[in-house]
Amino acid sequence: MEFKTLLFEKDAGIGILTLNRPKQLNAINGEMLTELSNAMDNIAADDEVKVLIITGGEKVFAAGGDIAFMSGADSLTAESFIALCHQAFDKVANLEKPVIAAIAGMALGGGCELSLCCDIRICSENATFAQPEINLGIIPGAGGTQRLARLIGPGWCKYLTMLGDPIDADTALRLGLVAKVVPPDQLMTEAKKIAAKLAAKPPGALRVLKKAINYGMNVDLASGLAFEQKVFALLFSTQDQKEGMKAFMEKRKPVYKGR
Ligand code: CAA
Repeated sequence: MEFKTLLFEKDAGIGILTLNRPKQLNAINGEMLTELSNAMDNIAADDEVKVLIITGGEKVFAAGGDIAFMSGADSLTAESFIALCHQAFDKVANLEKPVIAAIAGMALGGGCELSLCCDIRICSENATFAQPEINLGIIPGAGGTQRLARLIGPGWCKYLTMLGDPIDADTALRLGLVAKVVPPDQLMTEAKKIAAKLAAKPPGALRVLKKAINYGMNVDLASGLAFEQKVFALLFSTQDQKEGMKAFMEKRKPVYKGR
């Protein structure tokens, strides 16, 4: 896959997608969103990619939506830009494979919101997070009022979005915004370690696990529990369930085939 604003590589079942507009601190523009959307379609269809890591490289995750573009936008332009953003970000959130955000440096505005679409977020000790849109006369538009509130609760979400101030990596860890904080030079090693563990899990079970959790966040408890029961039972029609339990009984490591 060749892109202007993204880099993609894959190795041993792990895809790595790197945001690549370094001069603009990976600010997210329409071209990046179109490319992200296309990349996600390709990754979804690529059986060689079992797990995806999204990163911004060593210096910055992303400084948010492209203000140079948005500064000249009217409501109609903003509407189509943010629709494109949701289309691309939803593809990340709904990818039927685990997605890890590996965050170094700043994850601001749309950058933080992109990380919220990932299943697992880890960051380096130098990472900072903010939803600073209020300081520009707008609000988060790429899921920040919804995904962030669901992840860390409405109280902290309002604190972050109303004040717009950055928080450091340790605070992000305390709020549950990230699962792990590591030294900067360990970020990709740790992300790959987690990805490799996930790549060895039964992919069908991971797929329905992700669906059950995501679905459950958006419906009432009874509907979520009903969905969980159904997909739990459904997994007993897979070879990977037979293999997982047989291997346990035989005291050996399971070998999953994704069937
Ligand atoms: N959009 C476009 N360009 C951006 C940008 C952004 N969000 N953030 C940084 N840049 C550009 C700067 O304009 C600058 O370009 P030039 O060299 O051509 O002047 C370059 O990146 C480097 O930035 P700075 O010189 O400002 O670097 P700094 O280290 O002094 O500051 C910063 C870094 C604190 C991130 C500062 O650039 C900043 O505050 N950026 C804006 C952050 C922000 O408000 N993000 C939210 C955007 S709105 C949004 O995301 C809405 C949504 O929900 C989609």
